[in-house]
Amino acid sequence: MEHHGQAPAYRRQAWPHPNAPVGRHPGQSRSLPLPGRGILKEGEMERKKITPVDIQALKAAGKKITMLTAYDYPTALLEDRAGIDILLVGDSVGMTVLGYENTLPVTMDEMIHHTKAVTRGAKVALVIGDMPFMSYNTSERDAIVNAGRFMKEGGADAVKLEGGASVRDIVRAIVKAGIPVMGHLGLTPQTISMLGGFKVQGKDAKAAQKIIDDALMLEDAGVFSVILEAIPAPIAKRITERLTVPTIGIGAGIHCDGQVLVVHDMLGLFDRFTPKFVKRYVNLSELMLKAFGSFREEVSKGEFPTDQHSFHIDEKELSKMSS
Ligand code: KIV
Repeated sequence: MEHHGQAPAYRRQAWPHPNAPVGRHPGQSRSLPLPGRGILKEGEMERKKITPVDIQALKAAGKKITMLTAYDYPTALLEDRAGIDILLVGDSVGMTVLGYENTLPVTMDEMIHHTKAVTRGAKVALVIGDMPFMSYNTSERDAIVNAGRFMKEGGADAVKLEGGASVRDIVRAIVKAGIPVMGHLGLTPQTISMLGGFKVQGKDAKAAQKIIDDALMLEDAGVFSVILEAIPAPIAKRITERLTVPTIGIGAGIHCDGQVLVVHDMLGLFDRFTPKFVKRYVNLSELMLKAFGSFREEVSKGEFPTDQHSFHIDEKELSKMSS
């Protein structure tokens, strides 16, 4: 069926995705069924799935890259609709959604479960599966098998893993297997006990130089991008200038090629601790608490459900019944 009316406001605002490459059907505006992706709505045929190569092209074009974590279908849908370039199914899911103390207990099965939900929602954004603790550190073979699970079972477009020199051969092996890899340097939560807690990294010349060397080494090993977490802005600037591949910062200052935040932090849904680099764009905890309280109160007082929220039956049908 053809659409003749104007697209709804939310679509007009955010779609087409600002950084999405234009597809081969720019004029097409039909609703078409697409296997596994539901019904495409007006304008969707104009947007093409973002690839790691597109992410690299954004750096070359001087355009900033946006990335948020996502762990479920509705969040992925909204982030995608808002035009976020990369959705990271971060192992931070362990703390923000599963209630673990840190990211170490997160399993491959848990990550795959959440990745599947996110890839069902992300039509344009690049989806990256975060390799959990001990899913890549044990051997190159384990690393390839687990990275492959993110792609085959989860439907991810790429994987991310933490570390510098120690993971060089692992990165090489995964890339050689045809899987795009994003690196992660600076504050690496999976090795938090070695780093002595959630602390800014690279604060002295020696430590800062090590991060720069690691970034160059990761680029050489084949990563398509590197996350820089909690390092001084001038160090992130140097790395960004020296690397050809894009840097995505979280607590690494303005000079990175892109920025990432943990979605529960920026929505005010995680308050066990809030790092200095987090900007809270909305306080959803407050709104949710208010809604839950109102529901409890209305049910207790017999004010919900009203007639408006109830189903009806014809009086004639009711009268036919014995009791
Ligand atoms: O797991 C995660 O959410 C991350 C981000 C902090 C980049 O690795």
